[in-house]
Amino acid sequence: MCGIIGYIGNRDIIPILIEGLKRLEYRGYDSAGIAVLEKGRISLRRAEGKIALLEKLIKQKPVSGSAGLGHTRWATHGRPSEENAHPHRDCTGTIVIVHNGIVENYLELKEKLKKKGHRFRSETDTEIIAHLIEEQYCSGAAFRRTNSLEQAVRRALKEIRGSYALGIISSKEPGRIIAARSGSPLIIGLGKGENFIASDVPAILAHTRRIIYLNDGEFAVLTREGVDITKADGRKIIGKELDGRITAVAWKAGAAEKEGYRHFMLKEIHEQPRAIEDTIRGRISPDKAEVHLEELDLSTQKIKSIDRIIITACGTSWHAGLIGEYMLEDLVRIPVEVENAAEFRYRNPIIEKNTLVIAISQSGETADTLGAIREVREKNGTVVSICNVVGSTISRESDAVIYTHAGPEIGVASTKAFTTQLTVLYLLAIYMGKIRGFIRDAQARELIAELLKVPGIVKRMLGEEGKIIKLAEKFRKKTNFLYLGRGEGFPVALEGALKLKEVSYIHAEGYPAAEMKHGPIALIDKNMPAVVLALKGRRYDKILSNIEEIKARGGEVIALASEGDKELKKKADEVLYVPRTCVQLSPVLAVIPLQLLAYYIAVKRGCNPDQPRHLAKSVTVE
Ligand code: G6P
Repeated sequence: MCGIIGYIGNRDIIPILIEGLKRLEYRGYDSAGIAVLEKGRISLRRAEGKIALLEKLIKQKPVSGSAGLGHTRWATHGRPSEENAHPHRDCTGTIVIVHNGIVENYLELKEKLKKKGHRFRSETDTEIIAHLIEEQYCSGAAFRRTNSLEQAVRRALKEIRGSYALGIISSKEPGRIIAARSGSPLIIGLGKGENFIASDVPAILAHTRRIIYLNDGEFAVLTREGVDITKADGRKIIGKELDGRITAVAWKAGAAEKEGYRHFMLKEIHEQPRAIEDTIRGRISPDKAEVHLEELDLSTQKIKSIDRIIITACGTSWHAGLIGEYMLEDLVRIPVEVENAAEFRYRNPIIEKNTLVIAISQSGETADTLGAIREVREKNGTVVSICNVVGSTISRESDAVIYTHAGPEIGVASTKAFTTQLTVLYLLAIYMGKIRGFIRDAQARELIAELLKVPGIVKRMLGEEGKIIKLAEKFRKKTNFLYLGRGEGFPVALEGALKLKEVSYIHAEGYPAAEMKHGPIALIDKNMPAVVLALKGRRYDKILSNIEEIKARGGEVIALASEGDKELKKKADEVLYVPRTCVQLSPVLAVIPLQLLAYYIAVKRGCNPDQPRHLAKSVTVE
């Protein structure tokens, strides 16, 4: 969703803002803009569409300075347009703000402000905030007496209902940037003689790795020399407490670059062997019979007492959760339910003493997953989250976090986060299965041995892209796809279909193969290819029957088959071979060709898989 960057220092601000905005492109946006403090006034440049258009505009109408704000907007209130692009101004153009979030009571506030004579230039909810601050802003003697902008913002925010991450500057107080957060992520980057705000780490990674994650209700004043943070209760964070809040981000600056790949999505698909390896690293005992998950922070007694697990997440992370259900039920023998976070949080869910909730989120900022966690914790439940971003809101608000070590995921369509989430779920299942006495050493050793082979196998699979590129060429003009699977193959089918629709805009549906006869079979004809997960296993014969049924109705089948399966070659039109592994890990391998197929079809259709239309990497509003 919207991306924020702010800078105050001594350097030329334009490259810092523009590069920062480019690093935030992956979040999804439809317009972009900057505001720069320039000789006692604020200059704005905004453009609908891509950042390249904003750059062009800045070339035509140059602007310079060393303090200001930048923003990429993902429209919620008001269509994508230059007027609706951020930064937004008050009536006088003295106060300028960038905002991520939604002001829920904006209509009511707008009416009130209009009556007081405020004129609005945009259709956005954000502009209201600039005018509310203007209302509160003192001038003349009062200005000299008070810390004016800071106080004005504090008072204005009291009137707002909804969520916000805010960056604010005023030409009357050019030496400071105000930042505030409630419900939308915002970080502060600490430099030497310069400081930054941003909605996400990649925006400022080239300049600093010393980050403070603002908490809800916190408020910061940045100058060139330092940062003042005030907690929600009005207390200033100083000394050791402030030092303790600084996270040293380990990601290398290059981690947020394409490094020779055409797209982040392709780079991240290819990073999976390394990402899975990093996620396993340090979590397996030297004799390879045990998993170490100290970060789980649950006593053996607590783990033994769990009698129900609820997994909650959104999007691809939800699909990982659906696969986790199979892993945990198989290896731990505890009943598992998987819930879409948005549905779960508003259902008044029943959370009992021995229920464990596992929240999964790559970004750690998804609004609904966060809402679900808060709902559980209000009901005194225990939440363990599986997260990729260290220090993110979800990681901070959970009882314990198990990190995936995927590195920054920039491509909107999640790939390496998914397979590392599966890796963590698998490790967790072995860990809990052992504690509960369901898995003996010998089985643990076998399961771990299989996991250790996965990075190498994925690497080999990625070396065989050629076949998938040909398939992408053959199928790129289709407008509908069906993805079918049974057992753990079903969530993989859901994920394969989601990948395709996200990046290529082809309509694709994932279904349990057995459900086909309850509806989707009516759609099958020569124009509706079916991708069928037909790996060897318990349900193999049944899936073969499904393939026969599709073929009998003139449908084309792309089958995912276990290596060495000659039978499928006779039945399916196209076969993609997947190396063999244990059933619980088969989704990690099976999803690889589906990610590649979606990527190459998208590219062959002329779509940009890194910035799919209308999508956001991190959905931070409901
Ligand atoms: C968005 C992204 C998806 C992601 C989902 C959940 O829809 O486009 O790729 O799976 O959010 O995000 P999370 O960060 O919570 O895993």
